[in-house]
Amino acid sequence: MAEVIIVPDAPTGGGIVADEIAALIRRRPDAVLGLATGSTPLPVYEALRDRLAGVDVSRVRGFALDEYVGLDTAHPESYRSVITREVVEPLGLDPRHIRTPDGSLDGIARAGEDYEEAIVAAGGIDVQILGIGTDGHIGFNEPGSSFASRTRVKTLTRQTREDNARFFETIDDVPMHCITQGLGTILRARTLVLLAFGEGKAEAVAGAVEGPVTASLPGSAIQLHEHVTVIVDEAAASRL
Ligand code: GLP
Repeated sequence: MAEVIIVPDAPTGGGIVADEIAALIRRRPDAVLGLATGSTPLPVYEALRDRLAGVDVSRVRGFALDEYVGLDTAHPESYRSVITREVVEPLGLDPRHIRTPDGSLDGIARAGEDYEEAIVAAGGIDVQILGIGTDGHIGFNEPGSSFASRTRVKTLTRQTREDNARFFETIDDVPMHCITQGLGTILRARTLVLLAFGEGKAEAVAGAVEGPVTASLPGSAIQLHEHVTVIVDEAAASRL
């Protein structure tokens, strides 16, 4: 059963996770972080700025959860750009140690396998940060994803494209496909931290934490993991 921590607001939740990550990096300077995008983990990355001040982060490694397919990595909304802007630059991480799946059309045939190999070669992910989609997706593992899945190309649902349209000019600019760590990949991380804030996430959170373990709600896969912390505000916890 996941440990659920209800916090008054997102910055408090971000601070709790940042404390854990900063302690991990002090203990293991070459820690491997699993980095999520979306708006939810931003308070974690913000809090890490002062938690990591003066800490040697030159050996920290990281793997993003997912990436859009066919979106130039230079596009401001590619997850490579987002991770660079929100995590790598402000925290002073070495960009050579931070990977995102290769969503380029040229690289796509081998991208999933390469990514899996790179995670294994790094010794696995120490702590995987997760948000959750309103339809219960984690990473971009949409409903119906196999719990054994590895990094691969997926088609985004209409719901997810609508949710993410706010980052693009129109919904038509939101890519149709993505490459995402699989649920099986995520479950191999040593610890999972899932964050969710706001009423819009309440149903997904209830399903993930207390609902049946089902591919219809990919976030429920966290119930199969032994070391999971769920950090939610009152609104996101309201259906628990
Ligand atoms: C995005 C990302 C997920 C993220 C989720 C929620 O599509 N691929 O990793 O957890 O949707 O996003 P947000 O945190 O902005 O609500």
